Amino acid sequence: MVFTFKNFPADRDDLRVDVLSGLAACPKSIPPKYFYDELGCRLFEAICAQPEYVLCRTEQALMTSRLSDIAAAIGPVDCIIEPGAGDCAKVRLLLDALHPTHLAVLDIAGAPLAAAAEPLYRDYPDLGVTALGMDFIHDLEAAAPYLPTGRRLVYYPGSSIGNFPPDAAATLLARFRRLAGTEGQLLIGFDLKKDPQQLHRAYNDAAGVTAAFNLNLLERLNRELNADFDPSRFRHYAFYNPAAGRIEMHLVSLAEQDVAVAGQNFHFALGETLHTEHSYKFRCDEFSAIAKTAGWPLKAEWEHDGFAIQLYG
Ligand code: AVI
Repeated sequence: MVFTFKNFPADRDDLRVDVLSGLAACPKSIPPKYFYDELGCRLFEAICAQPEYVLCRTEQALMTSRLSDIAAAIGPVDCIIEPGAGDCAKVRLLLDALHPTHLAVLDIAGAPLAAAAEPLYRDYPDLGVTALGMDFIHDLEAAAPYLPTGRRLVYYPGSSIGNFPPDAAATLLARFRRLAGTEGQLLIGFDLKKDPQQLHRAYNDAAGVTAAFNLNLLERLNRELNADFDPSRFRHYAFYNPAAGRIEMHLVSLAEQDVAVAGQNFHFALGETLHTEHSYKFRCDEFSAIAKTAGWPLKAEWEHDGFAIQLYG
């Protein structure tokens, strides 16, 4: 079968425009999708291996233990579409259980995606693999011409949906609906509300990997936008906000300082924060209410140890 890789040229201007407008706003913020340069992708994989961050391992255990039920509930599928596929490791379980004829993986980090997708093509010789290096949050609809017709399953694991505020999550789910079509299905994994202390530890791991992941954003801006952030003058700060139901991740300025980014100057007061990520946690009924507004009726759900997988369609 065929392996196709298409890179939608990363628009350096998007990064510049988003970062400059985020730094000019009050409070300052930068969208979390910019964590994922090559080093950011490796740091995220390292976060998933930390003892405190059980999200990925719990999802994997749930998928493995309930795979035959999940596959039976999904039924026959021609094409699996995985936005934000990263290292393409998670989808293998579904490939083994569902035997689709085609897999389309999408990720903002094009080069690592191509490297991860090629072995899939070798390991599943009957599978057509399309790897699209794209910012699917911007460009999801541009994937459509690269997808075969037939029964589609959008697979969105890892609680990535939690990185969007609920209204933006609903919008993204509605776009998944249009891409999947009326006969299509969505299999999605998300982190559940739980003991705030457990959540706090997950985003403040003892080895400091999450802190390095957060601070790498500043290094990235230094590398790619000719900025002069001194990361030692910012502190990783993550906490659970129970009223909003989310982890908030910030970089807090440890001094009054000025920083130049792409030729513009930005002032940070002592203690001012640069917001870098929200990670929403849900109850199952809360999430299915959001999905319903996006046109996805709930078909089945599985839950284990503070993590849920739901099937829609
Ligand atoms: C990718 N996403 C689901 C992770 C999360 O938990 O929100 C990103 C992450 N940020 C800090 N640790 C992990």
